[in-house]
Amino acid sequence: MSYTSKNPKLKVFKNKSLLHLSQFSEDEIVSLFEEAKRLQEYSKSHPDGDFADILGSIKKGVVALLFFENSTRTRMSFESAVHNLALKPLLLDAHSGSSLHKGETPEDTILNIASMDPKAVVIRCGDRLDLDSISQKIKMPIINAGWGAKGHPTQALLDLFTLWRERPLKGTRLMIVGDILHSRVASSHFEIFERLGVEIAGCGPQVFKPVQEPIVEGTKTRATSELKWFNDLNEGLNWCDVVIALRVQTERHSAHVNFFSEDFRSQYGINLEKMKLLKPDGLLLHPGPVNWGIELDREILSDPRVRILQQVNNGLYLRMALLKSILEC
Ligand code: CP
Repeated sequence: MSYTSKNPKLKVFKNKSLLHLSQFSEDEIVSLFEEAKRLQEYSKSHPDGDFADILGSIKKGVVALLFFENSTRTRMSFESAVHNLALKPLLLDAHSGSSLHKGETPEDTILNIASMDPKAVVIRCGDRLDLDSISQKIKMPIINAGWGAKGHPTQALLDLFTLWRERPLKGTRLMIVGDILHSRVASSHFEIFERLGVEIAGCGPQVFKPVQEPIVEGTKTRATSELKWFNDLNEGLNWCDVVIALRVQTERHSAHVNFFSEDFRSQYGINLEKMKLLKPDGLLLHPGPVNWGIELDREILSDPRVRILQQVNNGLYLRMALLKSILEC
């Protein structure tokens, strides 16, 4: 009997796109975490990197990785996941030598690559692309690998998986610090964390507080006024069990955002002094890439409660579990 057949909730992912986390129930998300944990533990005990024993019956073939925006962690971990699952990556880095430079649109690019019959398509893109509509036009599953400010579901899943590996989720107080307004990662956090019992607060200057009513269209509506908010980092650090610091995303700031990195650093930057306010069993996460010296000081890396590189490791196994479940025969 294959592992997936012992874990029937995973079947919900089979042949499905992952565009929004609202698609899946809490139990289904946890089943994905259990699969990711199993793959991670198997990897530790099999340093040869051969997962053949536990792959079960997954499709063979190519997975297209289409990156219209920059990425290091997400792209490389999907690429590693594809290799570990004995699939083949078909990588498009839109910045280097693609026909986008001849004026082809991202949608046309996706439709053309989908015609090459990959088993799944992993896409990172800007807000203007309509992945919901594209998913109706192609026959294989699409995985959202970071979609403008709309969402980054696999990052939110790996962040939650990182907490799930270490502590009960129910009752955990999470504070997200920084540029929530422009963060696709935070958009996806709001879709899933509270459903699994995590209490969320935001912290930062008012200019980074979400101002629209629903943060993500078509998903769980969250009025800004409902979001617990700390203007004072020290108060927030006293309240929370877990901090997720976010990258200040200057590339997404419009002209009305007055952001001064030195002001942000002095009021909301986390250094070893601030870490003293975090609970002894607290955790600090950051999805990366980090603007060292703005949202975090590099010296905090010596603190044993920091999980930034562990998140990256967890992300590989979470993405393997996701691809494996989607491509189950
Ligand atoms: N966290 C994250 O999405 O990083 P990359 O942009 O490097 O993929």
